[in-house]
Amino acid sequence: MPQPFYVTTPIYYVNARPHLGHAYTTIVADVVNRFHCICGQETYFLTGTDEHGDKVVRAAKEEGMSPLAYVDQISDLFRALWPELDIEYDYFIRTTESAHVNIVKEVLQKIYDSGDIYFSEYEGAYCFGCERFYTERELVGGRCPDHKTIPEVIKESNYFFRMSRYQDWLVDHINKNPDFISPERYRNEALAFLREPLDDLCISRPKSRLQWGITLPFDDQYVTYVWFDALLNYVSALAYPDGERFKRFWPTVHHLVAKDILKPHGIYWPIMLKAAGIPLYRGLHVHGYWNVDESKMSKSLGNVVDPLELKNVYGADAFRYFVLREMVFGLDSSFTEKAFVQRINSDLANDLGNLFSRSLTMVHKYFKGVVPRGDEAPESSLDLDVKSDALKTIQGYEKAMEDFAFHKALMAIWEFINRINKYIDVTAPWELAKKKSQHKLLGLVLYNVLEGLRVIAGLLYPVMPRASQVMQKHLGMTSADICQTLEDLSVWGNMQAGTKLPKTVTLFPRVELDKPEAKGGEIAPAKELSDSSKPEISVQTFQQIDLRVATVLHAEPVPRSRNLLKLKVDVGEERTVVAGIAKSYHPEDLIGKQVVIVANLKPVKLMGILSQGMVLTAADKGACRLVTLDGPSEPGTPLM
Ligand code: MSP
Repeated sequence: MPQPFYVTTPIYYVNARPHLGHAYTTIVADVVNRFHCICGQETYFLTGTDEHGDKVVRAAKEEGMSPLAYVDQISDLFRALWPELDIEYDYFIRTTESAHVNIVKEVLQKIYDSGDIYFSEYEGAYCFGCERFYTERELVGGRCPDHKTIPEVIKESNYFFRMSRYQDWLVDHINKNPDFISPERYRNEALAFLREPLDDLCISRPKSRLQWGITLPFDDQYVTYVWFDALLNYVSALAYPDGERFKRFWPTVHHLVAKDILKPHGIYWPIMLKAAGIPLYRGLHVHGYWNVDESKMSKSLGNVVDPLELKNVYGADAFRYFVLREMVFGLDSSFTEKAFVQRINSDLANDLGNLFSRSLTMVHKYFKGVVPRGDEAPESSLDLDVKSDALKTIQGYEKAMEDFAFHKALMAIWEFINRINKYIDVTAPWELAKKKSQHKLLGLVLYNVLEGLRVIAGLLYPVMPRASQVMQKHLGMTSADICQTLEDLSVWGNMQAGTKLPKTVTLFPRVELDKPEAKGGEIAPAKELSDSSKPEISVQTFQQIDLRVATVLHAEPVPRSRNLLKLKVDVGEERTVVAGIAKSYHPEDLIGKQVVIVANLKPVKLMGILSQGMVLTAADKGACRLVTLDGPSEPGTPLM
């Protein structure tokens, strides 16, 4: 039985709205979580909000709200965003909830009783932005390294956590467990930090200065330092110490953070766990920072990227794909909308989308949409070993995902997409289709292509759950087998011959950056056509219309009608379409013509004939002109 898996994100401060950086970490957690699901593991995924401390009090004051009303409002923004990005967490924790507060008190008391917390007077440089004291050594030119402000010198009696006692132990642990902090650069950073003597950590704030926090169980004149409170969310969410979830998931915990909070997670947290007698986490995975157009995201620069806006314009799948493909986990990355749009067009619309639609169109055309048999043709050179390439792809993908090298996992899938595209070009199913004697071979080729698509769809599930499920549905899978495990994917030949496939769809339409709708945010007002009486629609609404190339196979007048013609067309499959074009076209002139039809219109009966689509025409002063193509195209090709 595979081990369970537990993944966490940082709990986000509620002093600002969610942005690209928060979305990235949470998407990564969701991807990792879904990946472990398809490895057959039982998983638990935790995210939430960090709601105590000065920062929140100050932000609430600026908004003229009470801290409680303010944290409710911002926490809800985070909670509401995640489903929009198809993020499915198991629990959303808030540090203001009573179960968490009680557990923080319990752990504090335990550490206090064991003698690792002491009371002492301290005078030091305090940065209000960071909510912490700085030592001389840590300041840069006398200023806070983060806020670049000169800290205030304050004198206070406070409670301190004896971290120094654990310094050697922690160095030893990190050295003995190379996977404890990854990637390696951050492990080295933590070790470099531990080369200097470790100061004890001030873990209280006097209530005379701050009330918005958890009261210390052993002194009601103090509240707990926000980091000591926040880090404990990872165990309180599992109902530490006796909860079933704690026993089941804690031994397999992996934390995800960005480099900004390496120190609390790589130094304070393991020492807190050790002092409280809680086993250490399994892995801390640290990623870099998203910058925007080469600069740091900041409110004052006005370059904060809103993930919801991007999702509304480009869709959740495309957004998830882009951030995972673009950032090398551990390094910084720069976000530009141009790069995003380029990836949608080249990777999603061209490579993946075209492979999917050309493959299914052929199955519809040559096998009436039924999965052909792949076992009737002799093992021949046309088999070209796609099976073993699929297996290699799955192995490479699995290794990359385990290493948090998401860009490599996606590259492995894309190599395989190109491989299948080439397989089609080399085997040329359209040539095989011309000879009856090659029919079984054609079946083998298209069966292999469909199997390849099944593997691609399954591997894409963690990153693009929506597209993966649409693909699997169109490959004839029922909801029962839609979440395929890596084990299922590794069995070539899983697809049932004889399964009827639904009509194909456009997975990812191309987008253009200079189209106003594709700009995210600043949408320019649409230029009105002088005689347009129709309301403006979004690109998304337009994309719901399935336009296809159709070849007219047969045309005849509809009895008792002066304007209707009954057409038989090939759109990857045969359909009947009734068109009001008899006054402008003779039926015999239409045979072989390529037209454009709306393929997903609800069928209607016209003069007793069921019409399964609408032919596009331009009505020009009573005459009617068919919309045709510039050159020959494969019937069923989607228009975008
Ligand atoms: N509340 C603390 C965390 C406590 S965890 C016990 C905190 N909150 S935060 O709102 O500032 O979130 C920091 C985290 O947000 C980063 O570690 C990272 O996960 C994400 N990001 C915020 N800005 C980011 C970028 N510009 N780029 C990438 N991720 C960043 O720290």
